[in-house]
Amino acid sequence: MRACVWIDGQRIAPDAARVSVFDRGFLHGDSVFEVLRTYGRVPFALDERLERLERSARLVSIELPVGLDVLRSEVVAALEQAAYPEAYLRLMLTRGADEPRVAAVPNRPRRVLLLAPLVPLPAETYELGVAVVTERSELVGNAIAPGAKVGNYLKSILALAAARRAGAAEALLVDRSGGIFEGSSSNVFLCSKGTLVTPPEESGILAGITRRKVLELARSWGVPLELRTFTPRELRAADEAFITASIREVVPIVRVDGDAIGGGRPGDFTRRLLAGYRALALGGATSALSSAATSVVN
Ligand SMILES: Cc1ncc(COP(=O)(O)O)c(C=O)c1O
Repeated sequence: MRACVWIDGQRIAPDAARVSVFDRGFLHGDSVFEVLRTYGRVPFALDERLERLERSARLVSIELPVGLDVLRSEVVAALEQAAYPEAYLRLMLTRGADEPRVAAVPNRPRRVLLLAPLVPLPAETYELGVAVVTERSELVGNAIAPGAKVGNYLKSILALAAARRAGAAEALLVDRSGGIFEGSSSNVFLCSKGTLVTPPEESGILAGITRRKVLELARSWGVPLELRTFTPRELRAADEAFITASIREVVPIVRVDGDAIGGGRPGDFTRRLLAGYRALALGGATSALSSAATSVVN
């Protein structure tokens, strides 16, 4: 099955889909975007993601080319047309085309919607967990427009490349004070003595929507929460740890910088969160919540 592309609301054959070389998304990474997936063919948390797209655009002064209701109906119509069993979806807004070296900032925003069949992570990733490494980062989150999901991912790309060279699946970024604040393209949690810990939004992280859902689940289960950064040492000593992101969902971390966490196996709490998250995404949250809550709280 092929990818499908819409530019400014028009469906274009993928091979013919073009954006100008003068587009500022290409020239400068001057764009904002969202990535999401479907569960049972329904886009999960679409409204929350469209709201974050609008917020990201506002934070970097890109005008929305059409209202959120239009974007929403374009996404829904695109999914219907693509008719994938499950879809990966990427929605981008760029500031538009500009002549190089022209100082004036253009106001011709463009929207690009990409759909592709979803390729989920292999089941063994969840069964065995992944290794991560810590990477020093001078910039916490997106320091220029905190909280905005902007197109320039160079910091994340370099950190992830370093992780891959070390045989790890993700890089956890460490700020100058020695605190871990997020993954290169994920949020990070640890679980220690029954308490769930994750860095707060105020630390400048990209507050993921998966993170928000996981926090809502944990709150509804009565799990004690601490919103703070933590050190690599604390992470190594944790009972469990995991990362969250829309396509990867909830992925157990079993090694950090070569040291095992929680005996090198995914923990029960992480498993239950993954199950609860999937149930929520599939809309069957209620029953999963009550059974999982009993086992977590007891
Ligand atoms: C830096 C960063 N943090 C967190 C996330 C996870 O966000 P979400 O759960 O909304 O997919 C991403 C996803 O791309 C990211 O790039």
